[in-house]
Amino acid sequence: GPTCAVIAYKCPHIKVTIVDLNEARIAAWNSDNLPIYEPGLDEIVFSCRGKNLFFTTEVEQAVIEADLIFVSVNTPTKKAGMGAGYAADLAYVESATRQIAEVATSSKIVVEKSTVPCRTAESMRTILEANSRGDIRFDILSNPEFLAEGTAIKDLLHPDRVLIGGLQTAEGQRAQQALVEVYAQWVPTDKIITTNLWSSELSKLAANALLAQRISSINALSAICEATGADIDEVAYACGRDSRIGPKFLKASVGFGGSCFQKDILNLVYLSEQLNLPEVAAYWKQVVDLNEYQKKRFVSCIIKTLFNTITNKRIAVLGFAFKKDTGDTRESAAITLCKDFIQENAQVCIYDPKVTDEQIILDLSEPGVFDNTLLNKRVIITRSAYEASENADAIVITTEWDEFKELDYEKIYEKMHKPAFIFDGRLILDAERLRSIGFR
Ligand code: UGA
Repeated sequence: GPTCAVIAYKCPHIKVTIVDLNEARIAAWNSDNLPIYEPGLDEIVFSCRGKNLFFTTEVEQAVIEADLIFVSVNTPTKKAGMGAGYAADLAYVESATRQIAEVATSSKIVVEKSTVPCRTAESMRTILEANSRGDIRFDILSNPEFLAEGTAIKDLLHPDRVLIGGLQTAEGQRAQQALVEVYAQWVPTDKIITTNLWSSELSKLAANALLAQRISSINALSAICEATGADIDEVAYACGRDSRIGPKFLKASVGFGGSCFQKDILNLVYLSEQLNLPEVAAYWKQVVDLNEYQKKRFVSCIIKTLFNTITNKRIAVLGFAFKKDTGDTRESAAITLCKDFIQENAQVCIYDPKVTDEQIILDLSEPGVFDNTLLNKRVIITRSAYEASENADAIVITTEWDEFKELDYEKIYEKMHKPAFIFDGRLILDAERLRSIGFR
């Protein structure tokens, strides 16, 4: 959605049609209430929609008309069968590819946009070639997405780089050039990188693995800081000032979430194992293991501090999204934390400015473990941070929403049980100031 909306916005001469089988989602894209929250997205969609940007469920028609097709279907981690828990499920990529092959009446450039394991393009090519007829040819490109949620529009308008992988044949390079020209409408050409297909596919997994690794590294150091009295923000700052290390992505936290990091690393782990590289697999797996450890460590710190029990204590959880400026909760650390609090029989009051009540309940439900009766008893979803913290024993910051920095903590303190505890899982609050109010 965001990527193709920006292409339409920057390339008025190109007609962009976004198709999805999900009617409700397409209806939302065509309404005033877009299906995802992303700063700046509304303006871009509203300015192009109906001119050169269209949303429809007419998949076949759109495929027939298109010169270039982005395949942007989901590739979740497999739940069953070979590679379960690690490998990406490519069923949607395959069915989309087969559909293109079936309905196309002219040559197409087919672009892999979904994050896929290395060499997926090869399977797509095999399917397309086996189904192509005489005068129809399909060229395959890989063009991984590097935007981050919450800053998608900014990332798309001013990308650090655009990566386009293609086969190193004359036709492959021609197709690559066609897509380069689209991005060159607004991206400086020195930021558009062309590589072979496999480098492009692997670079996507590699970039996410390297980013997540920085977070796990800093989180591992945060455990040492807490044991020694060093301050993790100071350590991160001191290390980040080395220009070879750099300051970004060194913020210690309650653990990374999101739909990409864990999934992509597990994918890389699976790939390494398939290539008979067990040491490499173990190395990357540790980035995910450390992330789980960080969440557990945070929960146990909370329980220990609250005198070893949180049974019937009221815990205000501020933030449920996996990061600020998004309503997305996939793999959010808040889910793990809240489930642990519920297991310990705490009363959990959750507030997030963008996540819907239905989503929170859906995320916390687990057949046989967390049913509706239990959730009704243990979970309250509130409309404000103030409401969530009323009569609470502890506040737990799980998402770094800006509004949590600007709350009236004197007012909050007055209405909490004493001693009043705050656990800042994002290190966004001024701890000294809070201590002077009386918080622990
Ligand atoms: C990530 C990558 O940053 C994008 O480049 C990539 O395109 C995207 O995945 C993807 O594969 O589609 P995203 O998951 O949207 O983007 O969000 P991030 O900003 O990377 O944050 C991921 C998690 O790490 C969040 O929970 C965030 O709060 C956490 N984080 C981030 C930290 O705990 N510390 C940091 O210093 C930075």
